[in-house]
Amino acid sequence: MKYGFIGGGRITRALVEGLLRAKLCLPQDIIVSSRSPEPLALLTKETGIRAGKNNAEVVQEAELILLAVKPWDVAAALQSCGEALSRKLLVSVVTGKSAESLASLSGARVVRAMPNTGAMAGVSTTAIAPGASASIADVERVRQIFEAVGSVIEIKESLFDAVVGMSGSGPAYIYLIIEALSDGGVAVGLPRSVALHLAIQTVRGAAIFAEQSGLHPALLREMITSPAGTTAAALGVLEDEGMRAAFIRAVRAAKERSEELGR
Ligand SMILES: NC(=O)c1ccc[n+]([C@@H]2O[C@H](COP(=O)([O-])OP(=O)(O)OC[C@H]3O[C@@H](n4cnc5c(N)ncnc54)[C@H](OP(=O)(O)O)[C@@H]3O)[C@@H](O)[C@H]2O)c1
Repeated sequence: MKYGFIGGGRITRALVEGLLRAKLCLPQDIIVSSRSPEPLALLTKETGIRAGKNNAEVVQEAELILLAVKPWDVAAALQSCGEALSRKLLVSVVTGKSAESLASLSGARVVRAMPNTGAMAGVSTTAIAPGASASIADVERVRQIFEAVGSVIEIKESLFDAVVGMSGSGPAYIYLIIEALSDGGVAVGLPRSVALHLAIQTVRGAAIFAEQSGLHPALLREMITSPAGTTAAALGVLEDEGMRAAFIRAVRAAKERSEELGR
């Protein structure tokens, strides 16, 4: 199976590295084209994959085409892919663009996927949704690709903007928590490097235990909140400051922005 990538940016790099790490294919089975030559040359040099002369050559050579450009570049990118695209499987990681609009621009069978930057460390959480003309076999192929960089969940396409708002943009929210938590550590006297280490490991440990225990986060929180204790004092401040409501509003804002980008 030959994989073609249109767009040679961050998410392409993460997926290419994941595919190669999982030995799903060899570097020569991946061909990529992009707009600016320098980053493309760096990507091909560092991963050993091939650069296509243009988008049309990538589409000619590959059976499965991964579209990884920004939403506003989609129309131009698909226009330059040539009519061979109508016989291929198009996998889009583009925010906001519906399978129906991508199918009408390209004529291809479409599967949408929404990974996140966890893909760079092989721990993305990816949602996938098939377009109307994608087959069960198409969905399975796409599942395989994204399982190479983490876990995969199949959802209805109508929930895609919600996924963008939560797990697509989500790593940025967690980085903000890590930064803020370590700022808190520095404010009470910890050296910056110690505070950052503790913040990262705390987030990591909490995520791993939430996954392993399968317990609801409210229960996990209660387990470490003794009456009139330190955690209760801190949680009181976070609730007073509206942290929970801020997260709900943030996810809604990202979902609405994803809807706007799709229009
Ligand atoms: N990064 C993430 O975590 C993430 C997660 C999920 C989904 N996504 C989605 O994935 C898409 C790509 O994101 P990204 O972070 O990888 O963006 P990026 O780093 O900006 O990469 C986009 C790439 O597409 C290239 N490009 C633009 N127009 C093109 C065209 N007509 N033909 C071929 N290549 C073209 C760009 O070239 P230049 O170098 O000239 O700009 C750039 O290399 C976006 O729609 C984003 O919403 C990203």
